Amino acid sequence: MHRWQGALIVLLNPLLWLGALGLPRPQIGDCGENEGPVGGVSPPIPTVTSSSGSLRGDSGLLGGNAPLPDPEKSDSAIVPNPQLVNGQEADAKLGLYLDFDSADPPQPIRGENGNTDPGPRTFDYEKLNPDLFAPPRTDAGDMPNLMWPMGLSHNRPGTGKNSGWARQQNVDVLPAAKAMAGVDMRLAPNAYRELHWHTANEWGMILKGCVRVAAVDDEGRNFVDDVCAGDVWFFPAGIPHSIQAFEKGAEFLLVFDQGDFTEDGTFLVSELFLRNPVEVLSKDLRAGVDAFENLPKDQLYIFNGTPAPADISEQNVTSPAGAITGNASYTYHWSQQAPYTVPGGSIKILDPLTFRVASMFSAALVLVQPGALREIHWHTTSDEWNFFLQGAGRITVYGAPASSRTYDFTAAGVGYVPAACGHYVENTGEEDLVFLEVLQAPKFTDISVAQWLALTPRQVVKDHLSLPDAVLDALPREKPIILTGNQNLTALAGGGSAFSVS
Ligand SMILES: *[C@@H]1O[C@H](CO)[C@@H](O)[C@H](O)[C@H]1NC(C)=O
Ligand SMILES: *[C@@H]1O[C@H](CO)[C@@H](O)[C@H](O)[C@H]1NC(C)=O
Ligand SMILES: *[C@@H]1O[C@H](CO)[C@@H](O)[C@H](O)[C@H]1NC(C)=O
Repeated sequence: MHRWQGALIVLLNPLLWLGALGLPRPQIGDCGENEGPVGGVSPPIPTVTSSSGSLRGDSGLLGGNAPLPDPEKSDSAIVPNPQLVNGQEADAKLGLYLDFDSADPPQPIRGENGNTDPGPRTFDYEKLNPDLFAPPRTDAGDMPNLMWPMGLSHNRPGTGKNSGWARQQNVDVLPAAKAMAGVDMRLAPNAYRELHWHTANEWGMILKGCVRVAAVDDEGRNFVDDVCAGDVWFFPAGIPHSIQAFEKGAEFLLVFDQGDFTEDGTFLVSELFLRNPVEVLSKDLRAGVDAFENLPKDQLYIFNGTPAPADISEQNVTSPAGAITGNASYTYHWSQQAPYTVPGGSIKILDPLTFRVASMFSAALVLVQPGALREIHWHTTSDEWNFFLQGAGRITVYGAPASSRTYDFTAAGVGYVPAACGHYVENTGEEDLVFLEVLQAPKFTDISVAQWLALTPRQVVKDHLSLPDAVLDALPREKPIILTGNQNLTALAGGGSAFSVS
């Protein structure tokens, strides 16, 4: 046997291959094993040491030529003893949140809707997305996909040794998100996101750690500041800036006002120098050609740096045009703003009323307690970009005139709600749900359904919706923003209440 033949056998035989590499077999059983035959194939296949058989069948198998199968004796797609979770048999219109975590495997059944799934399947996707797998019966029509877990994004590593990484969501992965895109970026201790600029406006929020940011504007004014978890920056389109992590490293979120923004398409100081004639660089910076001998050979992107001096004044260059200060500031120390609290959660808003430089970025950081609800609302003119920082929640997006779809979210998930589409955010987990709503608007505003009805002539509301008088009497004239709810999301199935604990 030739050496390559031996190698081929090892390559083609998954058991030998895994054995040779000393790897465990894939843990597919943990996330949804397809037991028994599927597609007429019955794994495991026998192990052989030489090839046999043929690659194609003959015309004897064409329909009309082949012997008829006997469905009675053939494969069965019956799923014996399907396991249903709490609330799964309840009326599908109730749309209870189904906790598939304990179901092995979960089944796409809700009330009288659906049937079992004999496979192929990977349980983890279905457990994470119960409202896609077994949708509420109120979901209707053809809504586009409006969610993207960053966990499915390609991760681009930095150029230096363990310097960091970045992953992104844009129209390539979420085509409906036309107005905004997001990036989740990691910088190692002292690492930089290299000096750069782009054609989009950038709104950033620190998730972990602290960084020093620096920028210079088109009037020659400069800016430097230190920001930590929960703080925000804004760099207008075309303004060159840098970001350097402190000694404990950092992770931050970036939101851009272009759905097709890509981290791979920014303007970089390294490339600017590499892409201009050295003769011109020499003339421009009044330096001999040898001054440019140690330029980086390639772009730096994310790379390790010299630790920043703790004293920021050492890096505060004095510009004859002055510094960017006051209302022109590129940062907002949002972590120090106390939230507005309501029963069921809290909210704080950062929009151009206080952070004027971010002229079209209006954001809210919302905390919703288990079982509670960010009320049904919509934003009049802006799409909404969501990022989930913690917990689990679901959103139903209603689109004109008669469509809706429900999407489930977990940490590092991106959601997108097109302008004017009605939606809510319900905490479906056991911990506080923390998420961002980001709008392209000069002010953070919404239309609250409950307040709208409360402030509409009562007779008009009654003629439309036939709601009982007691409900009309109790409609809130102030926006509730967040409402408490029963932590048991299937309580309705047992005659309990959705909003008060029995
Ligand atoms: C940098 O110096 C300017 C004055 O030139 C000052 O207005 C600004 O606050 C300083 N920035 C920091 C972070 O100290
Ligand atoms: C920012 O602008 C507002 C509104 O014009 C003004 O009241 C406030 O004093 C300004 N703040 C600073 C720090 O310049
Ligand atoms: C939630 O409510 C359902 C229906 O009443 C009940 O069967 C279930 O045990 C409750 N779950 C918890 C965790 O209390």
